[in-house]
Amino acid sequence: RILIIDFGSQVTQLIARRVRESGVYCEIQPFNKVTEETIRAFDPKGVILSGGPASVTLAVSPRAPQELFDMGLPILGICYGQQTMVAQLGGRVETSDMQEFGRAFLDIQKDSALFEGVWQVGAKEQVWMSHGDRVAALPEGFEVYATSPNAPFAFIADESRHFYGVQFHPEVVHTPHGHQLIEAFTKRVCGCAGDWTMAAFKEQEIEKIRAQVGDGKVICGLSGGVDSSVVAALIHEAIGDQLVCVFVDHGLLRAGEADQVVKVFRDRFNINLVHRDASDLFLGKLAGKTDPEEKRKIIGATFIDVFEEEAKKVGGADFLAQGTLYPDVIESVSFHGGPSVTIKSHHNVGGLPERMNMKLVEPLRELFKDEVRILGAELGLPHEMVGRHPFPGPGLAIRIPGQEITREKCDVLRKADAIYLEEIRNAGLYDAIWQAFAVLLPVKTVGVMGDSRTYDHVLALRAVTSTDGMTADYYPFDHAFLGRTANRIINEVRGVNRVVYDVTSKPPGTIEWE
Ligand code: XMP
Repeated sequence: RILIIDFGSQVTQLIARRVRESGVYCEIQPFNKVTEETIRAFDPKGVILSGGPASVTLAVSPRAPQELFDMGLPILGICYGQQTMVAQLGGRVETSDMQEFGRAFLDIQKDSALFEGVWQVGAKEQVWMSHGDRVAALPEGFEVYATSPNAPFAFIADESRHFYGVQFHPEVVHTPHGHQLIEAFTKRVCGCAGDWTMAAFKEQEIEKIRAQVGDGKVICGLSGGVDSSVVAALIHEAIGDQLVCVFVDHGLLRAGEADQVVKVFRDRFNINLVHRDASDLFLGKLAGKTDPEEKRKIIGATFIDVFEEEAKKVGGADFLAQGTLYPDVIESVSFHGGPSVTIKSHHNVGGLPERMNMKLVEPLRELFKDEVRILGAELGLPHEMVGRHPFPGPGLAIRIPGQEITREKCDVLRKADAIYLEEIRNAGLYDAIWQAFAVLLPVKTVGVMGDSRTYDHVLALRAVTSTDGMTADYYPFDHAFLGRTANRIINEVRGVNRVVYDVTSKPPGTIEWE
């Protein structure tokens, strides 16, 4: 296993992804929580120091524990990680007038253990740079292996101590061979076997769940989304009928989703599933409400009430299963302090464990989203389920903005959305898109169909690419696709007579409209 010490880079999680893709388990710890003891407790075979926004040249700036450099562990310092390693080992870092951002080309000057089979002396290799500071003088024992026009110490190493420092970012895709350098570090230098696979993880988690739960009872809220589906399938494989799943159907799901959940979990997996159709209750409480935050709060609170009611009916449980993922768990490094503003109040079952006196089971805490999908496939979940686009907890309610939500409007939106997704699938674009959906606007416009006047809703189509939902860009469909889809929707869905395409990125927009 490898330890990654985070100095607050935007792309620290990408380092972890690259390490795990090479079959090596790793974890991220923030620099201000790492000590010699936490490193010994984790017992890594090597350590990676991430980049970060600070400057080593300032009087106060983040450091790795000084003892780290005497523990005999291989170390790879990336960008800020390289600079702090140099400074902590007696070299010098300066703020450079020649900043470098974006693509740069390295001159490979000397063979390193990390280059074998990847880079050769004399070659020019593309890398991605993003730095203002740079190394100015090397610590004792270090040599230069590659330079770039503005970074004479672009790749440095003390091979005898297995210390490596790179000014560029090997973890990003714009450094084409970066993942091979990281793999060479974890395997060749640190000696990791690279045998961390999803099948092994599954077995290990099943044992952990059995040990944690004993003969207790676990309850799991199932939504049909990827995370809760994988949690349910995994826990069921571990403890069988000690698991009860509760599917609160708020009537705001997409076409066919509720049926699929019941079919897969009850019929195929034979899971003890409570399916509560609470659509009347939810729609009743939403009647007359148009404010986005108010709608979100109503749906969140009603969800918890119904879930609790159903949990009590099945006699309660000792544990609540949750699909918490690794990105939710990683403690982020904050340089600004203070809470961030609430853009949208997300819907979850937050307060439930205390209210019902349950302990948590969170078997996905160590996984990234794409790893969860691989685990889902390993557990035998259907591809449409594990490969599904994200869907927000409040469902279609936040895709009918600025107007009262009614069953009729939900039906119109469901039909249009199903056509849109079908066209995307037919065009082979589903997996290239992070999320695609339709929004039923509160605007009516005049149209003409046949010889008659129509006065119906405008429907907006949205599709974005993203890696984590934090930032996103609109998907550049070709016009033929948009024309074909708009045509089908207007012809097949009564209530919509105009279709528009949303070309807003995030930021400044958000992915959902509310
Ligand atoms: P926004 O609209 O904030 O969405 O750009 C980012 C991602 O989060 C999803 N989303 C939610 N997911 N409960 C959820 O589980 C919610 O209340 C919620 N609101 C937004 C959204 O679909 C996108 O993937």
